[in-house]
Amino acid sequence: MKRALVTGAGGFIGSHLCRRLNGDGFQVTGVDSFTDYYDPAIKRARARLLIEEGVDLLEVDLIEGDLTPLVENADLVFHLAGQPGVRASWGTEFDIYARENVMATQRLLEVLKGSSIGKLVLASSSSVYGDAETFPTSETDLPQPVSPYGVTKLAAEHLGYLYWKAFDVPVVALRYFTIFGPGQRPDMAFTRFLKAAENGDPITIYGDGKQVRDFTYVGDCVAATVSAAVLGKPGTVYNIAGGTQASVLDVLEIIEELTGGAVDREYQEAMKGDARRTGADTNRAKRDLGYMPQVSLADGIRLQLEAHRQ
Ligand code: UGA
Repeated sequence: MKRALVTGAGGFIGSHLCRRLNGDGFQVTGVDSFTDYYDPAIKRARARLLIEEGVDLLEVDLIEGDLTPLVENADLVFHLAGQPGVRASWGTEFDIYARENVMATQRLLEVLKGSSIGKLVLASSSSVYGDAETFPTSETDLPQPVSPYGVTKLAAEHLGYLYWKAFDVPVVALRYFTIFGPGQRPDMAFTRFLKAAENGDPITIYGDGKQVRDFTYVGDCVAATVSAAVLGKPGTVYNIAGGTQASVLDVLEIIEELTGGAVDREYQEAMKGDARRTGADTNRAKRDLGYMPQVSLADGIRLQLEAHRQ
């Protein structure tokens, strides 16, 4: 039986990944430090469910904990732990981003030096591109983050690349494009919008609402992540995106249709760090990983709404 180690197992994507690997017959160990970027009770509840399903779930801080035994017991490592959130990464908060996204990744890479793992999959982000110069944006285009968060994710990618070059750690990095679906983080747009629509509360739009994202359904993201652990070429980064580019206003229209009513909108100043548009060229992932997104934006939002109602 193959053994998988997942960091950030209590997180939105990490918990979906653990469930998928467990269902595929992997022996899964998940670790999480239950940081408080959002209510840790949400992560602990996900962790409890995973434990019931047979996942081994441990509370571990990647910077302070003993990672050696964890790595020794793994064939594949999925590093999804990190401090998320593009707009919150300015000012004194940056310390946390540097610690959780850069220092923690470096520590994990150090422990993986000389190990015999088959693959380390690193979760990176579309935010490394910032305001890209070309669309669809490919992995060879110049990354130029517009948020401190994006800078830390890019640094983590670069660390991965150099541990591959210097020490043969078989690293593959995935640039996830705005992931949504059941269990999406509470600070992210769809969760906020669906909650407000259901409660009859107004939603807040940052800027004019015409900012565009290549939104990606979590099931597609997880499928790509599992493929990357098997088929990904070490030292390579891959865009993982849904393929439908939509604006925040487009999303609201879908939500209004699904919830059956107009939602009040409050416009606020655009947030510093927010890219105007993301849109990925996913040909590399298609070629190497067989990546083909399956769930459309409207279907995915419906699935997220159904999960939210439960
Ligand atoms: C998301 C995640 O939060 C990041 O952790 C991740 O790295 C990133 O995707 C990525 O693609 O790599 P973001 O695209 O900002 O970041 O996703 P949302 O928080 O869902 O926001 C989407 C858009 O809706 C943004 O333009 C945001 O300004 C807007 N928004 C969000 C609002 O107008 N109102 C809100 O209440 C929330």
